[in-house]
Parts: sequence; structure tokens; C-alpha cells
Amino acid sequence: MNLLEQIKLSAKKHNKRIVLPEGSEERTLKAADILISKKIAQITLLGDPDAIMSESEKFGLTNIKNAKIVDPLNNPDKERYTDMMVQIRKNKGLTLAEAEKLIEDPLYLATMMIKAGDADGEVAGAMNSTGDVLRPAFQYVKTKPGISVVSGAFIMILKNREYGEEGLIVFADCAVHPDPTESELAEIAVATASTTRAIAGFEPKIAMLSFSTKGSAKHPMVDKVVNATRIASEMAPDVQIEGELQADAAIVESIGKSKAPGSKIAGAANVLIFPNLECGNIAYKLVQRLAGAEAIGPVLQGMAAPINDLSRGCSISDIVNLVAITANQAAEK
Ligand code: ACO
Repeated sequence: MNLLEQIKLSAKKHNKRIVLPEGSEERTLKAADILISKKIAQITLLGDPDAIMSESEKFGLTNIKNAKIVDPLNNPDKERYTDMMVQIRKNKGLTLAEAEKLIEDPLYLATMMIKAGDADGEVAGAMNSTGDVLRPAFQYVKTKPGISVVSGAFIMILKNREYGEEGLIVFADCAVHPDPTESELAEIAVATASTTRAIAGFEPKIAMLSFSTKGSAKHPMVDKVVNATRIASEMAPDVQIEGELQADAAIVESIGKSKAPGSKIAGAANVLIFPNLECGNIAYKLVQRLAGAEAIGPVLQGMAAPINDLSRGCSISDIVNLVAITANQAAEK
């Protein structure tokens, strides 16, 4: 069974409640129909109930009647959610009138449902930008204890099974935080260890990447990775982490042995942490295009509850897969 099939099977066992704020969008509705029929998750759709039902009928989606539908403009929990919003953001000057307006936005409503314990996770982004999906999540759901930054990991499925974990390698951060400090980079490594265990299903061996291996170059950018490695090891002593390593020393056994002799990770890394978003985002796209790898993600990590962002060009199966991943993250939480 391939990784995505395993992830879906595992999601079915957890039966989590996932909210889809773009409830009347065509691909979202079609994905919801599949998710309900395959019992991958319990689905809540946000939007005008009449519009959702008439779109479902138009596309012949017979399972949507089993979704929970919440109308952001006529929501019985409005007062409960807006009171929570004001509590959380009163130090930022949020007024009740502003909260009452915000809660009519499905992206804010979805995050408040999660915050209030009425949903376990969210998937959005088929119609909205990354910033618009993430901002309410950053503001109300916030990060996990001990983590201050959200980041995005990709599980790369390589054609060449000699690298990583029989061809699986987790890359991060490829999606969110442009220029992490050394302690933020350490947090990204620790969060990626959790994602690797929960979603990719193997024990992480983390390489903190640089243009230097074990002191071969001297530069403040190298120092950042060295310090991040030390901080990450202190934060998560149970996780195998090593740096600074160049990419070839991290994944090619013979080069790892010659550049970092005695290292247990050099040459055997299955998780690659990039020093900033430029490197991570460019690297995953090059590996995807030039090496023909499948890229599963971005899986957003470090948030107190799982909220994942789709690409606006996503397919129906991308939505189904991301809901299954989100359900697994919710179970891990
Ligand atoms: N983790 C946790 N909280 C964060 C993060 C983060 N990474 N970034 C911002 N925040 C918080 C801030 O602290 C702030 O909280 P506050 O209001 O309580 O003070 C709030 O979020 C808003 O902060 P801004 O700095 O105003 O963030 P903004 O909304 O402008 O930007 C965003 C956030 C959109 C994620 C930005 O960092 C960004 O554009 N990142 C790059 C995303 C991207 O383009 N990725 C590449 C494409 S994705 C792909 O290819 C798969």
C-alpha cells in the first residue's frame, strides 16, 4: 500500500471532524462527497446552505446531505465565538463589533470552531491566498507550546529509493516562514520531527543543511545552522539531529562518510531542514520537476491544531489527500 493510501486508512480509524470553509466551491464539494462516502473524516461545510445543496444536486453529489453545514451569516454559535475572539485579541484592540464582522468570514469562523473544540482541523485555500488562510489561524489558534513559528513540510516521494527512507524524504520549511532566526530554525526542525512520525510514519534522522559540512566554511550563515542544531538537540533530545551538513553529505552515504566521519546521520538523513524559505521552496520545486518526485504538502506544522492550506490550482484528490493528512495530524495532537 502506498503512503497516501496508508494516510487515508489511518484517517478513517480516527474519524476526525474537519471543517472546509470554502463550502460551495466546486472542487471542495466534490472532495467532500468522496470524503463522506469513504468515511475518511466527518465533514463540516461553511456557506449558504441553499447554495451548497443546489450545487450538490447540480453535480449529483448524493453524500453532501450527510455533511454538517454552517451558515456564517446565520450561525447559532456567533455570540460564543465572538466573545472568545475578543478575549483572545483584546490586547490587540479587537472590539466586539469588529469580531461580529470577522466571524461572518468563513476563514475566521473555521478557526473559531477549532478553537472552541467544535472541529478538529481545517483545510482551505482552493479559493483563498495562503496569507488569508493562515492569518486567522496564527491569530486565534496560535502555535503549540514551545513552538513560536508555523512552517510547512513536504513529504517528497522520490523515484530513486536509495535516498532517505526508501525514497521518502521530508523537506522543511518550504512554505511559510521566510527568514527564521536560529531558534526558529531549531523549532522548525523539532516540528518536522513530529510531522515525520505522524504523517510519513518513520523515525526522523534530521540533517540541518548549509553550504558547509562540519566547519568546512566559516560564515555567519553557517553559524546560524550550527547554533540551530544545538538548540534543536536541546529542545528534543530524543530526536536524531545533526548539522551543519551539505546536501550531498546528508544523503549520499560515501560522501557523508568522507565529509563527516563517524556521523550516524550524514549519508542517511531522511529529513532535510533548509536554512531559510528561499532554499526550501526552490529545492522542493526543483526536486519535484527535475527528479520527477511526488511532493505531498505543504503539511503545516507547529500550529496548536491542524490547519492546512491548498494551492489555488489544487485538484479534487489534492483536497481529499490534505483532509486525510489533517485528520492524522489531529489524531497526533
Ligand atoms: N508562525 C506563527 N505566527 C506567525 C507566523 C508564523 N510563521 N508569521 C506571522 N505570524 C503571526 C504574527 O506574529 C502576527 O500575529 P499577531 O497579529 O498576533 O501579532 C500575525 O501572524 C500576522 O503577522 P504578519 O507579519 O502581519 O503576517 P502576514 O499575515 O503579513 O504574513 C504570511 C504571514 C502570509 C504567512 C507571510 O509570512 C508569508 O507571506 N509567507 C510566505 C508564504 C509564501 O508565499 N510561501 C511560498 C508559497 S507556498 C508554496 O509554494 C507551497
